[in-house]
Amino acid sequence: MKRLINRLRGRHYPLTGQIIWLTGASSGIGAALVPVLAAQCRHLVISARDISSLMPIAEQYANVSAMPADVTDPQSLALVAHHIDEVFGYIDTLIANAGTCEYLDVGQFDAALVRRVMHTNFDGLVNTVAAALPLLRASQRGYLVAVSSSVTWLPLPRAEAYGASKAAVDYFAKSLRLDLAQEGIDVSLVAPGFVKTPLTDRNHFAMPMRISAEQAAQAIVAGMQQHQHSIHFPKGFTRILRLLGALPDCLQWPLLKLFTRSQRKPRA
Ligand SMILES: NC(=O)c1ccc[n+]([C@@H]2O[C@H](COP(=O)([O-])OP(=O)(O)OC[C@H]3O[C@@H](n4cnc5c(N)ncnc54)[C@H](OP(=O)(O)O)[C@@H]3O)[C@@H](O)[C@H]2O)c1
Repeated sequence: MKRLINRLRGRHYPLTGQIIWLTGASSGIGAALVPVLAAQCRHLVISARDISSLMPIAEQYANVSAMPADVTDPQSLALVAHHIDEVFGYIDTLIANAGTCEYLDVGQFDAALVRRVMHTNFDGLVNTVAAALPLLRASQRGYLVAVSSSVTWLPLPRAEAYGASKAAVDYFAKSLRLDLAQEGIDVSLVAPGFVKTPLTDRNHFAMPMRISAEQAAQAIVAGMQQHQHSIHFPKGFTRILRLLGALPDCLQWPLLKLFTRSQRKPRA
């Protein structure tokens, strides 16, 4: 029904006929996006560092090709962009999904860990945009989807590096949206709650309302088809997080302290 209303309002953006570049497609949310995108688009280029994980995914579809690329290495991204330029001359959609997560143990403060996470999540996304922008400009309907996180709405314990890297992504993408609007290129931010992937399988804490990677992929594509500027899910979780994030400090702080205490590891 909602889709029909959006169609009537002229706010439906089909993936049919699109050339799409998806980073971080070798596992988790990225890998789950592949079948959903491949079923609708004209061609999907998938990238990640581990080509041996990407190839078996790509081989399942006639319209998917895989290329290795490390988002922290602009040269490897330039090779993918060059290949796309040679074959297609443009992309309609870039999904900058590659990312990592490491938690900080403040007792053993590790600046290198923070730099590592920032480098992959923020510098990596900027590098990806730099490589893909000329290809998006060559499309009639350029669209950039940046995968961030709902963590940016509320400071969470041990998430200093991850949260800061995704907050940087948020600001970058929102600002970029303003500047690229003049060129007809739209920008969406994806803010997942907890999704079951190899990334969260490493977590040793409770992950309320965690959904499957397949559910996440469906939510992302549904949001993309409406060019929602903020694609967030699962709604029950992200709305609570947003509400807590909007509380005045005098109310938010005691709640956060309570949460931090419950997450603290007992001292040996
Ligand atoms: N899972 C969640 O609950 C959750 C919540 C909020 C946001 N997110 C975000 O969603 C995105 C996908 O996460 P996920 O949970 O699906 O994690 P995942 O299963 O660990 O997948 C991460 C993907 O990124 C790729 N990647 C990592 N570092 C890279 C690099 N330097 N260069 C190129 N590719 C790289 C990995 O492939 P290679 O290792 O082969 O390069 C892999 O394909 C991330 O941006 C993450 O921050 C996830």
